[in-house]
Amino acid sequence: MSENLNPFPQNDLSNTNNWYASWFDTPYYHILYKDRDYTEAQHFMDNLTQYLNLPENARILDLACGKGRHSIYLNSLGYDVTGADLSENSIAEASKLANPTLHFKVHDMRQTCDEKYDAIFNLFTSFGYFDDDADNLKTIQAIHNSLNETGFACIDFMNVDYIIDNLVPEETKIVDGITFHIKRYVKDNHIFKEINFTDNGQDFHFTERVQALRLADFEKMMEDAGIYLLDIFGNYKLQKFYKNNSERLIMIFK
Ligand SMILES: C[S@@+](CC[C@H](N)C(=O)[O-])C[C@H]1O[C@@H](n2cnc3c(N)ncnc32)[C@H](O)[C@@H]1O
Repeated sequence: MSENLNPFPQNDLSNTNNWYASWFDTPYYHILYKDRDYTEAQHFMDNLTQYLNLPENARILDLACGKGRHSIYLNSLGYDVTGADLSENSIAEASKLANPTLHFKVHDMRQTCDEKYDAIFNLFTSFGYFDDDADNLKTIQAIHNSLNETGFACIDFMNVDYIIDNLVPEETKIVDGITFHIKRYVKDNHIFKEINFTDNGQDFHFTERVQALRLADFEKMMEDAGIYLLDIFGNYKLQKFYKNNSERLIMIFK
């Protein structure tokens, strides 16, 4: 059982339109996912920065950075990194590790940045959350507009077909003394994850809802935004993308 972490007057946030603004800002999100694979994330950043052949001191934007696990590592490689996220709590936590070449800010990915970057990364399925499809396009356009002329962007999304084939419908995870009951299902072209748990005698219910965007959907969005898709990879080793077997859909564009 954890100390009382309830930041909300009500506990059922499953029906709020912007579920992503509330769930990702709670301490419970970070508790549930505290076993994230940092080594894999670092290898991915090694592979991606080598592939992009970024200049020394390149300016990188980690868009939807969470608590900054990729930003911090990229900065340790020598890059000037800005981590940006909607979650004030995540940015407050990440900012504790800020330095003159590692910056963090609260920022909505739909907005074009004031500054330009040599590379913009949107990592670990930080896309497809919005109710309105126009917001997806807005995000792609904002990324494009925030790149400098020679800049590259990367969206690292789930491979929907692989995820659906391997969906675990029910799971129970105990983390920090909290028992999370998780249900996953596909509905209305979205992948849902319902998360129920009790903490300090209070019941909580959250829903993650990510649009089932496939390569063709991204290609269409990029075409609409006048963006050139350069390369597609299927995993963090940057191997070829296979529709049915690849774990990830990693797109490089400029
Ligand atoms: C799945 S997490 C990934 C976080 C991080 N990239 C990582 O790999 O650990 C998705 C992140 O997107 C952020 N997010 C959701 N909607 C956003 C928005 N409109 N603008 C910026 N960030 C947003 C959330 O706050 C959350 O930190």
